[in-house]
Formats: sequence, C-alpha cells, structure tokens
Amino acid sequence: MICKQNIVITGFMGTGKSTVAVLIARKFNRPFIDTDQEIEKRLGTSINDIFSRGQEQLFRESERVLLKELSEQTNLVIATGGGTLLSRSSLQLLEQSSLFCLDASVDNLVQRLYNCASRPLLNHDNLRYDIENLLDDRRCNYQRIDQHISTDHLSPEEIATTIINRIEARNKAQITRSIKVQPRDLPPYPIFIAKDVLNRSAHLFKSIGASLEQVIIADSNLQEQSEKLRTHLLNHGFKTKLLSIDAQESEKTLVSAEILLRQLAEIRCSRASSIIAFGGGVVGDIGAFVAATYMRGLSIVQIPTTLLAMVDSSIGGKCGLNLQQSKNLIGVFKHPQAVIIDPCLLYSLPQQEVSAGLAEVIKHGLIGDEELLCMLEADAYNIEELIFRNLCVKAKIVAADSFEKDQRMLLNFGHTFGHAFESVSQHRIKHGPAVGLGMLVATRLAILMNQASEKLYIRIENLLTKHKLPISLNNILIDDVLSALELDKKHSQNNKHFIIPLAAQQLKIITNPPEILIRKAIESILYQDS
Ligand SMILES: NC(=O)c1ccc[n+]([C@@H]2O[C@H](COP(=O)([O-])OP(=O)(O)OC[C@H]3O[C@@H](n4cnc5c(N)ncnc54)[C@H](O)[C@@H]3O)[C@@H](O)[C@H]2O)c1
Ligand SMILES: [Zn+2]
Repeated sequence: MICKQNIVITGFMGTGKSTVAVLIARKFNRPFIDTDQEIEKRLGTSINDIFSRGQEQLFRESERVLLKELSEQTNLVIATGGGTLLSRSSLQLLEQSSLFCLDASVDNLVQRLYNCASRPLLNHDNLRYDIENLLDDRRCNYQRIDQHISTDHLSPEEIATTIINRIEARNKAQITRSIKVQPRDLPPYPIFIAKDVLNRSAHLFKSIGASLEQVIIADSNLQEQSEKLRTHLLNHGFKTKLLSIDAQESEKTLVSAEILLRQLAEIRCSRASSIIAFGGGVVGDIGAFVAATYMRGLSIVQIPTTLLAMVDSSIGGKCGLNLQQSKNLIGVFKHPQAVIIDPCLLYSLPQQEVSAGLAEVIKHGLIGDEELLCMLEADAYNIEELIFRNLCVKAKIVAADSFEKDQRMLLNFGHTFGHAFESVSQHRIKHGPAVGLGMLVATRLAILMNQASEKLYIRIENLLTKHKLPISLNNILIDDVLSALELDKKHSQNNKHFIIPLAAQQLKIITNPPEILIRKAIESILYQDS
C-alpha cells in the first residue's frame, strides 16, 4: 500500500522528468500532470511563444496558481517545469509531497537537448554555455530538494524504479512523524521519528538512497543494540561494519577522533561509505567530526540514543571536540543526511540522563514554545510529541541561520555559563545539568540588569527542580568560572556576548554587560560545603 501523498518529479530540462513521471503514474495507477503542458493548455499557447513574447512573468504566475490547486489534491504524479520550484513559495506549496529532483551532467544535458525542439532560455548555438549558466543560477534552488537522483547512467525505467523503490521503502518504515530541516543554501534533510523504527531502519536508509556501505560508530555501552542494528542492516543487503567508542565527555577529543580515523583507514572505508553515529551527544559529535574529515567528508546519519541527543545535538550540524582549555573548541559544521529517532531506545536510559535531556527541552520551551513549557510543568507528555515539538523549535532556527551568525546563537541560551561549569568541574557536572544552571545564571544576570522578573527565575528554578536538575553548585571557585568564560566561542576580540531572557520566548543577545553583574549572577548559584 502506498500513501496518497503527491509524487513530484522536478529537475533541469532534459533530465527526463515527464517520461519518468508517466512511468511512475502507470505503476501506481495515478493521474499524471505535466505542469508545462497544463499551462500551455490553459493559456492556449506554447511556452516558447510565451517566453519569446517576454511574458515569463505571466507564465510564472500561472504556474503558481496551478501549483496551489495541485497542492490541495492528493494521489497525483506531477512533472514540473525546470524552473517551477525555483521560488521558495512554490517549493513550500509542494512540501507535503514526495519530491524528487533529477540531476544530469552538463555533457549529458548538451547531448539530450541538442536534438530537441528549441527550449526557452536556451540558445541552440550557445547550448553548452547557456546550460552551464542556467545551472549555476539554479543550483542553490535545486539543492533545497532533499531527494536527488543522478540520471547519467540510468534509463528512464531505471530512474522510475529507483523512485518507486524509495517510496515503497519509506512506506515500509511506517514513520509516524517526520520533519524536514532546511539549512539555508544546503540540502534539506529529514528527521524520522517512530517507535521501534530501529528494526525497520534499513527501509529508511533505502528510502533516502543511503550508501550501501556503512560504518556504525557506536557507544560501547550500547553493544547489544548496535550489534542488533548491524545484523538488521546486513540482513537487508547493506555492508555494515561496526566500530565502538567509549562515550565519555573526557573522550571527546582529537585523540579519540584520530583513533577512529585510523580504524576507518584500517577497515578500508571508502569515500562511498556513510557513517552512522549511534549514541548520545558524545558519539554524535565525534562521529560527525570523523565523517566531516575522513577523505574530506563522508555522509553521516545520526541515530541518537539519549534524550539530549534526540532533542538537540543530533540536528543542526554542529559538532565539537574538547581541548584542555575549554569545551567544544574544535569543530566543524556537518549536517547529517538524515536523523532517525526511535523513542524506544530511551527505555534503558538512566533517569539522570533523561533529566539531562530535559534541560535542553526546557531551553527550547523558553526559546520558542510556551506549550512545551506547560507540558513540562504539568509533567504530562507523550515522549514522541515532546521530541517532535523540540525539533520544530530547533529546525526553525537552524533554517533561519545555519552557520550561527545571529539568530541561532539563541540556541546557546544557558550554554555560555554551562560550558564554563562543565570545564571548571572537569565534567563532574554534565552538559544537561550545566545548561540548566547556565540558564539560571543568565536569568539572574537579566534580573540584575532590570530586564527580567524574579517570577521568570522562579519558573525556571521550579522546572529544573521538577525534572531533577540542580539549581545550585558547590565547591567551584568563581574566579575559575570567570577564566573559563573568557574562552567562550561567542566572544569576539573585546566583545563578550551573552544570551539573556527578558521573558519566556523572548530572548536577547547582549554585549559586554558589567563584569560585576556577571560575577554576582554566577555567585548567586555557587555555595561552598562547610
Ligand atoms: N553538537 C551539538 O549541537 C550539541 C548539542 C548539545 C550537546 N552536545 C554535546 O552532547 C554531549 C552530551 O550528550 P549526552 O547527554 O547524550 O551524553 P553521552 O553521549 O555522554 O551519553 C550519556 C550516557 O548515556 C549512555 N547512553 C547513551 N544512550 C543510552 C541508552 N539508550 N541507554 C542507556 N545508556 C545510554 C552513554 O553511554 C553515556 O554513559 C556533550 O558533549 C555536549 O557537548 C552537542
Ligand atoms: Zn546543549
């Protein structure tokens, strides 16, 4: 059984969109629509004539109207024009569809388009030049589509079969929820959430066209689950190898990364392989760093196993390794090809790790989801819904600012002070609790600057207490915390940036607050054992 989502085939002219779409429509016995043909019918003239009369705008407007109509229907197979999905608004209209982009090399496009009737925007005498220029203009837009198929060595039948297989695999995976992360100017990637999906993950890998050669980098504490994952993938035709690492914060170093890189070379991992990071935030961060650097970059699929990694670290594409001086000082941006979340993995997670994840959930609620905070206050929530809401908050911010230039800094709420607490305590205080404490200090700083109310502080304190997170810290020296703060990545030259809350869902970045207030804010949560 196939779901009724529309199937949309797009791509540059000459990639075979219509031929392939007809084959798919036939296979699923669905109506087929070619948007170019439909517009020609509606306007009573050919697209070439429209363009040669300089009426591209009229054409684009008709296209938008048509897409709107089609997006309100289901069960269709649609082949679009080469420029149809170039605007964000058109792409948004088809967001709920199963969307595939066909790619081809310039050589192939020249060959295929040379003998065709003339096409708008291409001059027969300068065909190669025009194709290259148009492709350059459109590349970024095509990149916004997550499913790409290279058509260079495939017949239309083979392309149609590839698409059909991917759609059927996706259905077999029985995904209950999914969300798309759309980093600006980078390919989007899906996050799949479903209980017990690990046992169906091979279908998901097939549905995204993942490499058949994979190396799982797994948390050594999850030996049984990672062996099971490997066996499942092997049984479904993947060539999957397994490496494991000790998932401790103190191991999140270049040394551990180098050991893994050497192991990849020893098992002759090739450029065609993909990494699967199977673990919490530590494994996710090291795995992403290794994937980004081995042979200048392999693709990675994140399978987070802690709540913290499910709601935060596995998406967004950041990864960090620690230096002795401070946490996460080394790192790269490495967005995954997909994230697969199986909430059943949380059954074995110790309570303190669940609490650690809830610190990031509280953070996301304070950044952008009041209902999430209410769910936590009532302590009544469905875990799938909780994870989903978190991902929505984070995905929205990552989409707006993929490389942490401005808005995304808000996701670091609580982290400036939190990282300092982690470093100074030599990781006795773990990431989640440290972030909770960091949010309290940032809120206290806002209060001292007359920008937030005591009521907000009490609300956050109550949320942390309810979810078994600390609200004060013993045996830490204020001067050590202040020195660790100096190394924060958000600081630039003489400017120190902090994120403070003015109210729930109203955060602000401030620069160079008075040193005395920073000291006071930190001191407010420190105490010494007598
Ligand atoms: N890259 C990012 O954007 C980002 C964001 C937030 C945090 N982080 C990083 O994430 C790290 C913290 O991640 P974490 O809290 O997931 O810690 P973690 O990876 O250290 O895991 C915590 C503990 O839980 C165990 N564990 C993992 N999954 C389990 C399961 N299903 N059942 C039982 N035990 C399990 C691990 O072995 C470990 O002992 C920090 O290093 C932090 O800097 C990164
Ligand atoms: Zn964090």
